[in-house]
Amino acid sequence: MTPLLEAPILETRGLTRRFGALPALSGVSLSVQSGTVLGVIGPNGAGKSTLINLITGHLRPTAGTVLIDGTDLTGAAPWRIAHAGVARTFQIVKPFRGMTVRENVAISAMYGDIRKATRRAAFELADGVLDRLDLADLAQRNPAELPIGDARRLELARALAARPRLLLLDEVMAGLRAAEIEAMVALIRALRDEGVTVLAVEHVIKAIKAISDEICVLHHGEVLTRGRPHEVLSDPRVVAAYLGTRYGQREGEQ
Ligand SMILES: Nc1ncnc2c1ncn2[C@@H]1O[C@H](COP(=O)(O)OP(=O)(O)OP(=O)(O)O)[C@@H](O)[C@H]1O
Ligand SMILES: [Mg+2]
Repeated sequence: MTPLLEAPILETRGLTRRFGALPALSGVSLSVQSGTVLGVIGPNGAGKSTLINLITGHLRPTAGTVLIDGTDLTGAAPWRIAHAGVARTFQIVKPFRGMTVRENVAISAMYGDIRKATRRAAFELADGVLDRLDLADLAQRNPAELPIGDARRLELARALAARPRLLLLDEVMAGLRAAEIEAMVALIRALRDEGVTVLAVEHVIKAIKAISDEICVLHHGEVLTRGRPHEVLSDPRVVAAYLGTRYGQREGEQ
């Protein structure tokens, strides 16, 4: 029987993580419908990266649940969650050193999707992703030598090579130039049009506004509010907690 309502591709229930006595995330419940983009914003230390790490299995929750397509994957190993169709980028880029840019992307292709397990297929997929992200000219380079804009695109290329249905981005635009941000916005919109669901943590407000169907604001590890971008960004509580100190400044930078 076809269910009347599709389970959200991602749902967290009461997700909580403490470090010692300090709660980094407290009782976060949110759901993301397939094919949408959820922007996640909030001050430094609000718990945004912790949220991603809990969803992808890079951290174990103290309490709460993570469901992918309605399946409970709370505390599962990162590889298991990756095999459920989830890929991510790291706020601090993490390429494999001692491998070229191309090899870095190919290895994700091999492990992300068992159908691409042959070496040749993985490299073909990697080359397609490198082309798409304008990294083809850098294919033979050492990732450690790349400037931040290229390094962030490589981080995204590695995630895309795993052919995710759910993509979690942790500040993939941080440190990028205006033209690079525009290209990234266009790419994320295109991915959404192709059916990829995206949860994007970002401080670049102009960009988050451009890509998000909805925005969720985290503050002190809790959801302050969630809604349509224009509503959330004009919410006085959001301005007081976050935007007041950043929005004008960041907009001015771009
Ligand atoms: N491994 C850890 N050990 C101890 N405390 C941690 C750890 N990771 C995060 N924290 C703390 O948890 C809180 C939330 O951190 P988190 O990195 O999730 O914030 P964030 O919203 O991603 O911030 P930013 O915008 O600066 O990236 C912070 O107080 C941080 O110091
Ligand atoms: Mg962070």
